Amino acid sequence: MSAAKDLVIGLAGLGTVGSGLVQLLKSNASEIEQRTGKKIIVKYVAVRDVNKKRDLPEGAKLIDNPLLMIEDPEVQVIVELIGGTNLAGTLIRKALENGKSVVTANKALLAEKGEELFTLAEENNLFLAYEASVAGAIPVVQTIKDSLAGNKIHNIFGILNGTSNYILSEMSANGTQFDEALKRAQELGFAEADPTLDIDGFDAAHKLKLLVRLAWGVHYPYDKVSIQGIRNMSAMDIAFAQSLGYTIKLLGQAEYKNNEIEAGVSPVLIPAKAILSRVDGAFNAIHINGNAVGPLFLHGLGAGSLPTASAVLGDIMSIMKNIYDTTGYVTKKFPLAPIANIDNSVSPWYLRLMVHDTVGVLRDVAGIFAKQSISIAQVIQKKQQEDGVPLVFMTHETTVKAMKNALAEIKATNILNAEPVAFRVLELA
Ligand code: HSE
Repeated sequence: MSAAKDLVIGLAGLGTVGSGLVQLLKSNASEIEQRTGKKIIVKYVAVRDVNKKRDLPEGAKLIDNPLLMIEDPEVQVIVELIGGTNLAGTLIRKALENGKSVVTANKALLAEKGEELFTLAEENNLFLAYEASVAGAIPVVQTIKDSLAGNKIHNIFGILNGTSNYILSEMSANGTQFDEALKRAQELGFAEADPTLDIDGFDAAHKLKLLVRLAWGVHYPYDKVSIQGIRNMSAMDIAFAQSLGYTIKLLGQAEYKNNEIEAGVSPVLIPAKAILSRVDGAFNAIHINGNAVGPLFLHGLGAGSLPTASAVLGDIMSIMKNIYDTTGYVTKKFPLAPIANIDNSVSPWYLRLMVHDTVGVLRDVAGIFAKQSISIAQVIQKKQQEDGVPLVFMTHETTVKAMKNALAEIKATNILNAEPVAFRVLELA
């Protein structure tokens, strides 16, 4: 039985993060009490299979229907760690309708269907806390919402998915094949239950959407985020990038410029000497530029059991201390973001073409670039390989539209042996 002052929670999900939370509640119990003056009592743990042997918090009741916790008036906070959008969505909505605050790590749900839930929490004066949803252990939600509240944010960019960062790091450092690196990330517990969310860039886009929401107080619909993942990343491009002095990273990037916001996730070449290039494995890192704070860099474990559970526990404790603020804004319903047309976005590009080694190929490509006003910075042509000759270009700054047009024209010429590969380049200090 709990003392009146203790916090009673119901935990839904005992996977990687849920079991990390149970472990932390046990190992750090005295710190929790020392810092909040209360204990955290886990009254229910909801799992899919109640017959499986588990390490449960003392006195917790194992149930298979998480919605049952909602009906218990003693439960004050629901911790949603089951993932997915259907049952988790119903659970959070019903919890908020029934006067219970929520802590969640569910970025897919919040990014795709979160507006209604955030509004519901605000209207009912409840907390909907989600630090663990974005970049695992890194306290970026709290940082943007509270610590940087006095800033106009110019841009945010970074590595937001540990699985794809792990895969790219392994491919770059050890020449590991894509599938093998993904398998290892799954074994280590970084990957989503459906790893396409990681490798196709969707997980990073979910997190980016939430960061945009926090940074600019707007609803940037998730389906408006431009997304390109790393599923087809080739060792050849990683090696070419390295020989040119760059590292390939999957970046989420958002910028507020000319009263518009541009947000996208894609593989990007960044200088090998930039600090972001040295963020390896399951680590995430986020650059934030604000008009007062200047450049800020946050780095830490973006996935994994205890790191993510650390963020969940921090949220539970903020709620215990009654200091959590769900949105960081007065507005209950966020206005639609002014969305920039990505076609107008400007950057240098890396382009690799597999071509037939015949007279005039280079002239044809250069002619198409000239027609689109794309200026070439460097060209590399390597020896014949199985599927043609790799022809690599680094361009000066050009728009997405010009590059799209150039690619369409190059494809139409019949000089290609394979799909072209084009990545943007981000010049960083
Ligand atoms: N699958 C995610 C990642 C887990 O790899 O970053 C943390 O959100």
